[in-house]
Amino acid sequence: MEIIKTLGEFIIDRQMEYPHASGELSSLFSSIRLAAKILHREINKAGLADITGAAGDDNVQGEEQQKLDVYANERFKNALAQRGVVCGIASEEEEEFVKFQETKNREGKYVVLIDPLDGSSNIDVNVSVGTIFSIYRRVSPVGTQVTEADFLQPGHAQIAAGYVVYGSSTMLVYSTGNGVNGFTYDPTIGVFCLSHPNLQIPADGTIYSINEGNYVHFPEGVKKYIKYCQEEDAETKRPYTSRYIGSLVSDFHRNLIKGGIYLYPTSSRYPNGKLRLLYECNPMAFLIEQAGGKALAGPGQRVLDIEPTSLHQRCPLFLGSMNMVDRLDQFITEFGG
Ligand code: AHG
Ligand code: MN
Ligand code: MN
Repeated sequence: MEIIKTLGEFIIDRQMEYPHASGELSSLFSSIRLAAKILHREINKAGLADITGAAGDDNVQGEEQQKLDVYANERFKNALAQRGVVCGIASEEEEEFVKFQETKNREGKYVVLIDPLDGSSNIDVNVSVGTIFSIYRRVSPVGTQVTEADFLQPGHAQIAAGYVVYGSSTMLVYSTGNGVNGFTYDPTIGVFCLSHPNLQIPADGTIYSINEGNYVHFPEGVKKYIKYCQEEDAETKRPYTSRYIGSLVSDFHRNLIKGGIYLYPTSSRYPNGKLRLLYECNPMAFLIEQAGGKALAGPGQRVLDIEPTSLHQRCPLFLGSMNMVDRLDQFITEFGG
């Protein structure tokens, strides 16, 4: 008979590898897992909800259907508040960070930063979206209220990071700093099953992912690199293939498995890039490094070394296969990026 390792079992196995682990992080992951399952359910009926709501009706709660990214934010927030392991969260959907007020939460050691629904513009057209999360140990004393400093930590201080991709199947991929593992959701039994143990990104790839519509606004080094990707060269398998979904999670997931590079540079529209350092760039940079890849924010600038100064700050992002990012780095170092 086929042996299935569930996410729950995997977390407990891993916890036992650390003799002093208290199980708090495991409890935190349970919250994320639960919220992910609820989101899976809602996203899978999103199209249907539109049809049934078309007559201008309210939903069963008698309220107007909430936008899915607000819904996702509420779901993750509630799930994370419930177990008392987390003292507060910061979210792309909230202007300020959220202090969890109950005494049990003040005793919590961890803060969580989330992009509850990544790629939300893809929902209406039935294209994959995701959730991104990032976990830090608080720097303020346990027992007190969470502070902004707890959230403004450099990415290399992450305890764990991961994402859920709600794709043709739903997957949860995460790392606690000891490799990257992927779990596929089986909706018939309601369980995430280990399907992609120890994910490693190939050192070389043939995919480049960028919103090329912004080409004229890109820095010179990025423009030259794009032309390099498009040149003919049998040895390096160029021209590369261009693939861009417009959901960071989905673009990242494909490149992680197949090998490739993802670029979101500065442009005149987004002088600091579009993606958010704390909710998007840091967790993805943590994962890509754990998978043997590389993540930069500019010439020689490791994403995980950036000292954040504000919750919603943006940051350019270049990440993926090691040799591809190194090559890109040569271009942006010489020509600017
Ligand atoms: P979000 O839906 O959380 O706001 O994120 C959208 C992000 C990211 O997922 C995606 O890669 C990028 O925006 C796409 O931006 P462009 O449409 O400018 O290419
Ligand atoms: Mn996003
Ligand atoms: Mn979002």
